[in-house]
Amino acid sequence: MDYPQTVRIYEVGPRDGLQNEAQPISTQAKLEYIELLRAAGLREIEATSFVSPRAIPQLADADEIMRVLTRDADKLVRYPVLVPNERGLERAIAAGAKALAVFTAASDAFTQRNIGMTIDESLDAFKPVLKRATGLGWWMRAYVSTAFGCPFTGRVAPEKVVEVATRLIELGADEICVGDTIGVGVPRQVRELTAALTESGLPLDRLAYHFHDTRGTALANVVTALETGVTCFDASAGGTGGCPYAPGAAGNLATEDLVYMLDGMGIQHGVSLAGVLSAARFIADALGRPLSSKVGQAGGWDALTGARTLSAEA
Ligand code: COA
Ligand code: ZN
Repeated sequence: MDYPQTVRIYEVGPRDGLQNEAQPISTQAKLEYIELLRAAGLREIEATSFVSPRAIPQLADADEIMRVLTRDADKLVRYPVLVPNERGLERAIAAGAKALAVFTAASDAFTQRNIGMTIDESLDAFKPVLKRATGLGWWMRAYVSTAFGCPFTGRVAPEKVVEVATRLIELGADEICVGDTIGVGVPRQVRELTAALTESGLPLDRLAYHFHDTRGTALANVVTALETGVTCFDASAGGTGGCPYAPGAAGNLATEDLVYMLDGMGIQHGVSLAGVLSAARFIADALGRPLSSKVGQAGGWDALTGARTLSAEA
């Protein structure tokens, strides 16, 4: 089986990982967490959300986070921010952002609960946002959530995902991130969805997958996506996160679990497992709970010596 030699790991911990957490995390702790992720070698870190603070109180400090990041941070790192509307874009511009992510879904019932709009309405809202960001030369990602299933209406047809993705590309998105928001997807669906998207004309290098491990299928889905030639995967250090409007959505794929598997498969990604574990431990401590990821619990393992190379307590 041919796998890509190199993949991008797109870290969503600071945004997707934290947005649903009730325990308040200080701005300083978030910045330390982001710095640990950068130090681990992550080069794309979704830093925060310029959404309504009423909708997502945990990320109400987005302006301050981005001001510090764009003032101090490594210029080689991309820090996309979630932007739902023009108001969010204004805030992101003022804070110095240079990359954004807009978000809609493949299910109207879901977008209604999440952002109070139908899919069509959300695309109308993104139009001026993406137009303006294009003019500013920003990198732009677009999420299509609930692509594998909707918590309110069940099965989602691949054709619907393709339709929404195509419209987002037409609006100028550089990358489409297809999300299994509630973690119900299985490998056969990944294969079918990748085929449907590429047949519609979406280049493989503009497709990313965002898997949740809610039912234990995230890594199996990654392997299938790798087999179909996909080279960008989202993950959250510590496996935190989920969407507040998606019941049962707990658990992004943990970055350390993804890194461990890719290392073992000899697929390059530039991220240090020890570094990610440090970041994962840091945020688990800040949230006051143990690491839930598999590698966080078991540690890494050295294939040359058979030694357990990293302990969760290290
Ligand atoms: N930044 C800050 N505040 C914003 C904002 C933004 N980007 N967009 C809207 N607001 C404020 C408005 O000023 C208004 O505030 P008020 O209640 O104090 O007057 C309030 O939010 C509602 O604004 P409105 O334009 O009526 O929007 P809405 O209620 O239809 O909400 C969204 C639409 C998209 C702004 C809101 O649903 C949202 O931010 N959702 C985020 C959902 C999310 O992040 N989910 C997780 C990602 S998967
Ligand atoms: Zn997620």
